[in-house]
Amino acid sequence: MGLEHAAAMQTEITDQRIEGTRVFRAPGRVNLVGEHTDYNEGFVMPAAINFATTVTVAPRADRRLSVFSENCEEAIEFDLDDPKLRAASHWSDYVKGVAVVLEQSDHRLRGANLRIHGEVPIGSGLSSSAALEVSTAFALLANSGHCVAPVDVAKLCQRAENEFVGMRCGIMDQFISCCGQADRALMLDCRSLDYRVLPVPTDVRLVISNTMVKHELASSQYNVRRAECEAGVHHFAQSRPGVRALRDVTETELERARVDLSEVIYRRCRHIVSENARVLEAAEALESGDLDSFGQRMNESHRSLRDDYEVSCKELDLMVELAGHVDGVYGSRMTGGGFGGCTISIVEAERVKDFERTVARGYEEETGLKPEIYVCRAAAGAGEVT
Ligand code: GLA
Repeated sequence: MGLEHAAAMQTEITDQRIEGTRVFRAPGRVNLVGEHTDYNEGFVMPAAINFATTVTVAPRADRRLSVFSENCEEAIEFDLDDPKLRAASHWSDYVKGVAVVLEQSDHRLRGANLRIHGEVPIGSGLSSSAALEVSTAFALLANSGHCVAPVDVAKLCQRAENEFVGMRCGIMDQFISCCGQADRALMLDCRSLDYRVLPVPTDVRLVISNTMVKHELASSQYNVRRAECEAGVHHFAQSRPGVRALRDVTETELERARVDLSEVIYRRCRHIVSENARVLEAAEALESGDLDSFGQRMNESHRSLRDDYEVSCKELDLMVELAGHVDGVYGSRMTGGGFGGCTISIVEAERVKDFERTVARGYEEETGLKPEIYVCRAAAGAGEVT
């Protein structure tokens, strides 16, 4: 379908007189601490942010999905009964993947016209893909008269990304996009999916600094890290069959096994084991309002991701270092998968202007790149826009 048809669809779908037109939004996220722990069945502490993807949906009489992306100014159309739907390294993979997985899980869908508008910066590690998946899932489900619990929507969207798109992500991004709460972070146990709601103090801001780089390595190395963690689990499970994931390994066990593990696998495991402990400590700190201790856990997390897990890069390290020199910054670290993207800093509200000036100037001087800095608040999870 060409752009002409897309433009026609735009009029159609934004026309509120069309019976059944509805709008759904799903937010991106920032992870405060607990990186690469989700697929190790461990702990994470994300917050949904006030950047979201919006999907406007209108029913059709047939079984086709006609999808227009405002960001890409591009339209695609496919049939829900087409058995040959495959990922093609295109933005529409997320939409197709969600549709395919929903149908496979017995949620028969009606045809629809979808119009997508994304405000989560793409490829910056703030989960623009989860926001697209979740907003699409909410829209398609509602358009077809299905009512599915947000946690189950998160699981279905993760499955779409794992099985259709081919990215072996954990559950964190989809979960927080579905279940986030305004002014709160969640400490999520990625094994049980139980979570603790944590207050984000009102006198600090979640400041996200975008390095504006995304290194090629990001997705290939993500899957390599997963395989390295699995190698670690395999080792520990041999001596203790109760070990299902690195979540089950204690620090003492890890140190005892050091001589038997390769240096790389040992360091990967050390990141996961220590990061899980940091999330638990950070949750205590946030609950008791101890932001200094919280910030220290963030700084330690960054060092561990840089040195043990090796998923940082010089731009992220520089951003964190620059943030560390600004007064009123409690802590700073890379957030998301790594190899570029963003850092998260917890900053006293009245120091934010100073932060923006100093960090932006320092980063540009060193790299020649103009960073984008987003002063965010923790937002609610996905839902209908009324
Ligand atoms: C990406 C994945 C998440 C998580 C993070 C790292 O954002 O989608 O599941 O693994 O990386 O913490």
